[in-house]
Amino acid sequence: MKATAKARANIALVKYWGKLNTDLNIPAVGSISITLDKLWTETEVEFGKSISADTFFLNNEARKDQLDRVISCLDILRSHAKVSYAARVVSHNNFPTGAGLASSASGFAALTMAAARSLGLNFPPNKLSIIARQGSGSAARSIFGGFVEMHVGSKGDGSDSFAEPILSSDDWPLEVVVAITERKEKEVSSRIGMAKSELTSPYYGEWVKTSPIDLNSVREAIQAQDFEQLAEVAELNCLKMHAVAIASQPPLVYWNSATVACIHAVRELRRSGIPVFFTIDAGPQIKAVCTPGVSKNVEKVLRDIPGVLDTLVTGLGPGVEEI
Ligand code: DP6
Repeated sequence: MKATAKARANIALVKYWGKLNTDLNIPAVGSISITLDKLWTETEVEFGKSISADTFFLNNEARKDQLDRVISCLDILRSHAKVSYAARVVSHNNFPTGAGLASSASGFAALTMAAARSLGLNFPPNKLSIIARQGSGSAARSIFGGFVEMHVGSKGDGSDSFAEPILSSDDWPLEVVVAITERKEKEVSSRIGMAKSELTSPYYGEWVKTSPIDLNSVREAIQAQDFEQLAEVAELNCLKMHAVAIASQPPLVYWNSATVACIHAVRELRRSGIPVFFTIDAGPQIKAVCTPGVSKNVEKVLRDIPGVLDTLVTGLGPGVEEI
């Protein structure tokens, strides 16, 4: 009983930050993301009578710190399949883990698909999305490719809190330049950071209240393929999320000096007529979203900024797949 799945990371253009229900991991706000082709996790899951306990290896290292979250996800699938076998989970990320590059998104999407298939469960994508959400909210979006929207839903049991695709990558093949400004894992995870913001940030209430405006505007921009509108609202929403985080106690400043230098460089490029905008998740990395014709130019500018350690360019990718 073994299966392997590959899922890609995604970056949010309208961010998820805050929860409605911690036990079921239901988000407090909807979100919209793009799935990135070249940043992925591959996960093999094997269930069996001969396996005595659940284990989780990431990039050849046993990760006991992550095991509880992996087990919760496995438990959901075990209860669907009505089995109690333990599992061996072996995962590989092809990009830095836990540094604000959405490794939990690709990780839990790949885990959900691989564990479901190895138990013989043939769930439709929205069901996989609900299960992946319980591992990590952003993982619900990595079940799908291209442009994806995650819904808060209205049911208390989370059964309508799932993601769905809104536009395919072929329809609007944007590209993303990722500028890596730090390789080590961040000190405060998104999970802990958003919990702190919920409890202590004076801006949290406004964040939740104004999120639907950004969602409508970004959805509309994607449907109309209006880059300028997408750029304006996505940057605003990103800065709003970071303002909420920065005003938390203790303050959550996920940026370093290279992150700030990249923000200014991207804004300067856009002012000069180059179709590009930035977004940043709970970490110091910058993602510059642009139209395909300009990604080389954007990469060249970001690569020369002091503190930028590496860059990579990726197109938009497909949803989770069994391999
Ligand atoms: C800043 O999905 O990592 O990247 O549900 O607690 O696992 P948990 O949180 P997670 O949070 C992602 C936060 C974000 C914004 C986003 O991806 O929408």
